[in-house]
Amino acid sequence: MKPRVYIETFGCQMNVADTERAATGLRASGYDLCDSADEADVVLLNTCSVREKAEQKVYTRIGEVRATRPRKHEVLVGVMGCVAQLEGASVFNHAPLVDMVIGTRATDRISSLIERAASGERKVLDLGERGETDSWDVSPAERHSPHVAFIPIIEGCNKFCSFCIVPYSRGRERSRPASEIVAEVKNLQALGYKEIQLIGQNVNSYRPRVEDGLEGFKGATPFCRLLRAVAATGMPRIKFTTSFPRDFHPDIVTAIEENPNLCDWIHLPVQSGSDRVLKLMRRGHTRNDYWQRIERIKSSRRRLALTSDIIVGFPGETDEDFRQTLELVEQCEYDSLYIFKYSKRAGTPAANFTDDVSEKEKKARFLALEEVQRKNQEQIYRSYVGRTLQVLAERQSTRSESDLAGHSTCNKVVNFAGDRSLEGELVDVRVTAAKTNSLYGTLVNSSAVE
Ligand code: SAH
Ligand code: F3S
Repeated sequence: MKPRVYIETFGCQMNVADTERAATGLRASGYDLCDSADEADVVLLNTCSVREKAEQKVYTRIGEVRATRPRKHEVLVGVMGCVAQLEGASVFNHAPLVDMVIGTRATDRISSLIERAASGERKVLDLGERGETDSWDVSPAERHSPHVAFIPIIEGCNKFCSFCIVPYSRGRERSRPASEIVAEVKNLQALGYKEIQLIGQNVNSYRPRVEDGLEGFKGATPFCRLLRAVAATGMPRIKFTTSFPRDFHPDIVTAIEENPNLCDWIHLPVQSGSDRVLKLMRRGHTRNDYWQRIERIKSSRRRLALTSDIIVGFPGETDEDFRQTLELVEQCEYDSLYIFKYSKRAGTPAANFTDDVSEKEKKARFLALEEVQRKNQEQIYRSYVGRTLQVLAERQSTRSESDLAGHSTCNKVVNFAGDRSLEGELVDVRVTAAKTNSLYGTLVNSSAVE
């Protein structure tokens, strides 16, 4: 009998999508997948290295898995994902009880790597590129949700922002053929999925080698044509993330305005409000370039939710630079914001800059920015009270058994009283109360219920 495999996922949506792909491939090769490390013969940790803390988690987790299964041959342990790709063979030195190190482009080869480890080979390592025939297929049974599906459209990153490890862990940008993406959307629709999210480090840098599948769709860039092609499938809700500011063409907003099923949410990370810092970060855009994109988004005839990422305490960030970030955040009125303290990543250009902002100062800036955002956000969330939002009922709420939880088209968490029979349905919810990070409402129609 083939061993049972458990895959534990850390980090971003791309890792979630890779786990789904890996599980699909393993199942096709005859492996059983299980839901916990305790039941498994093989434990694979799909890892993240974007910040130091994320990376430390991996080694803690390896220790935990080994502690419960101390005998070497009781369980095989593999490290996959970004830590695997970056650390390579040094993972074996760091954690001698690891059997396999599986890079970010080796998802199609996992079954043969497991076979090698199971037959006694030690320190099995694969940091190779994807094969030409690698499959992007994901079987519905392996998807992380029966209602929302992630579809990678581009992987890797060519931007080399000075602080960021992703171009090294994920390699160069590779876009999937549009015909394949559109076919996947149609399949998911036939299976009853209500929402898809087109994902990639920078979705709007989408540039396939040939534009197979986009014939007849207009748009200023291949991504704008892809958005229109995907919208034309009739999939009820389409979201996409992350957008890169420099490549953010205003036609993206026009495409959203033309297609009601393109959702009203844009994630456009700015990282800093200071031109001096943006330059040191090598983001390829100024504050004003960014603001122009935002003006187009804000002037849309649809109310588009806007979210962003900010790094505080980048090497050399002065009080004045930080003040400019606070000011930009006030000005943009983000619906939500992910704030990160700068974390030095070995191998990136910024690792050679002097990390001169103290931990105390980073923390103070983090809290100051969080406070500004909280105030803005409370006001924005309050403005939804009385409005009706379309919500995808995704699951029972963690707070109350009689409530359901889901996301609005503007990607807000919405809780509402409702029966579990509504799970998977699109429903209208009138917002009655706003919390800092979620909305509460009541069901106003049940037209979606058969
Ligand atoms: N492709 C996306 C972001 C990828 S990483 C973009 O265009 O911005 C997700 C977020 O992690 C980044 O937006 C950034 O805010 C944060 N991040 C990346 N590297 C970091 C580092 N070294 N320290 C702190 N935060 C970091
Ligand atoms: Fe990282 Fe910049 Fe690419 S933040 S993922 S290098 S766009």
